[in-house]
Amino acid sequence: MSLKVALAKGRLLEPALALFGRIGAAAAGAAATRKLVVPSSDGSLSFLLVKPADVPVYVESGAADLGITGTDVLRETEADVLEPLALGFGACRMVVASPTHVPYPSLPGGVTPRVATKYPRLTRVFFAETGLGVEVITVSGSVEVAPLLGLAHWIVDLVDTGGTLRENGLVERARILDVCAVVIVNRASQKLKLEVHQRLLAKLQEASRKA
Ligand code: PRP
Repeated sequence: MSLKVALAKGRLLEPALALFGRIGAAAAGAAATRKLVVPSSDGSLSFLLVKPADVPVYVESGAADLGITGTDVLRETEADVLEPLALGFGACRMVVASPTHVPYPSLPGGVTPRVATKYPRLTRVFFAETGLGVEVITVSGSVEVAPLLGLAHWIVDLVDTGGTLRENGLVERARILDVCAVVIVNRASQKLKLEVHQRLLAKLQEASRKA
């Protein structure tokens, strides 16, 4: 019985494919191809290559049996899926950042801060918990440009090396969430195909520990 695995195109794709390669289920050429459904070399899996934000959608709906996604996207979507395994790659953090000359946590004159982000839900939750009134502006990428062009005062985005913030004159102001890659599994699929899921997860867990 073959399982459908949703994988995020982008920075998680290469380490995710390497992980499946280590358990003997490589997706030859998946990173280079324009094909969006790629079988594994041993025929046990088929990989669906989708946008990062869509991985939880495919898995929650059952269109994919399982997937690999970041906890950033997972917490943002609040998808109702199982989360059996944290992986040793994709580690980064979600932060509030602003240009050096734009203060945090308040602006002069009591101006309401505008915050640009790809994570509107997590951003609203963070500022509600912090007690700061902000206006959230949702963008879908290159968030760091927003304060440079006056679209927003602050941003909420992921930081890995810190290079993108630095090169755009931004500084980290507050940490919201530690992020890593995780395996997520559709609830019904896990029940219906229990043994297949258990075998695959055991292999992924071992390969992930050894990496
Ligand atoms: C992510 C993130 C930052 C950058 C951080 O973007 O949104 O822009 O990486 O990495 P750094 O701290 O190592 O510079 P990504 O490249 O995934 O593309 P995106 O802007 O389209 O989300």
